[in-house]
Parts: sequence; structure tokens; C-alpha cells
Amino acid sequence: MMHRNNQLGCNLSALMNLFEKYGGVPTVSRIVSRFYREVLERPTLRPYFEGVDMARLISHQVKFISHVLGPPASVYEGRTLELAHGGLRITGAAFAEVAGILRATLVEAGMVPEDVDTVMGAVARARTAIVES
Ligand code: HEM
Repeated sequence: MMHRNNQLGCNLSALMNLFEKYGGVPTVSRIVSRFYREVLERPTLRPYFEGVDMARLISHQVKFISHVLGPPASVYEGRTLELAHGGLRITGAAFAEVAGILRATLVEAGMVPEDVDTVMGAVARARTAIVES
């Protein structure tokens, strides 16, 4: 099988296994809602999402996790991460906070440490596309 990398520079087949391993859509949806609730509760992060309408917000929830877990990234035809985040002035601190919330959510959901590291590696590689210095 060919090893194609997705937008985050991840091996797609490896991540696809993760998506399936953790129960596919139902589990991912649960992870997404917990992750996002936490993000929106942070006064430091909430302002980034304030002008964004609900449909886009939900789309972001799903796409965020899909991107880092794998398969839907292969069918994702939206904007690049650079375009989606350009002009939002996302700071390194905000990025780190979001990444920390994601890590905690995955651990809480029962993901084993090795897989958490795989996901967080993908997140780390997306940093330069998202953070504006
Ligand atoms: C690895 C990290 C991240 C990934 C993979 C990711 C993924 C995405 C994707 C795929 C979109 C496009 C949604 C669409 O066009 O429908 C998006 C939009 C957005 N992201 Fe992220 N994101 C990440 C980090 C962040 C961070 C750290 C913030 C803010 C602190 C953020 C805030 C936003 C906002 C506000 C939008 C909506 C922009 C708009 O529609 O006007 N993202 N993100």
C-alpha cells in the first residue's frame, strides 16, 4: 500500500487505524463535543470563535478532530489550514492551550499514551500553518 501523507504530514493509513481503533464516528463525536466545550469555556480562547457562526463552529469541531485522527482528512476538500486560520492572529499560547485541551480529552477518552503521542505529533506539525507570530 502506498504511504500517502495528509495535510498534516501524517501517514494516512496509520491514522485511519486510530480512527477505527477508537470506535469511529460515535467516539470521535463524543471526543469532539468534550474538547470543544472545554475550548469555549476558556476566556483566552473563546474570543477567537466569537464571530464565527454555529454551522462553521460545528464544522470546525468535526474537521479539527477528523484532521488529526485521519480518514475524513482524505476526503476533506475545504480550505488549507493556512487559509482557514489566516488573519485570526492565533498566538503560540492559544495554540498550546488548544493542544493541551485536546491531549487531556484524548487521555480522558481512554486513548493509550502511544496513540495520544501520534495525534499530538500531527497537531505539532500543523503549528506553523496556524500560529501567526
Ligand atoms: C492542529 C490544530 C488545528 C486544526 C487541525 C484546525 C482545523 C481547522 C479547520 C479544518 C478549519 C476550517 C473549517 C472550515 O473551513 O469549515 C478551521 C477553522 C477555524 N479554526 Fe482551527 N484548527 C486548529 C487549531 C486552531 C486554534 C488553535 C484555533 C484558535 C485558538 C482555531 C480557530 C479556528 C477558527 C476560529 C476557525 C474558523 C474560521 C472561519 O470559519 O472564519 N483553530 N480549523
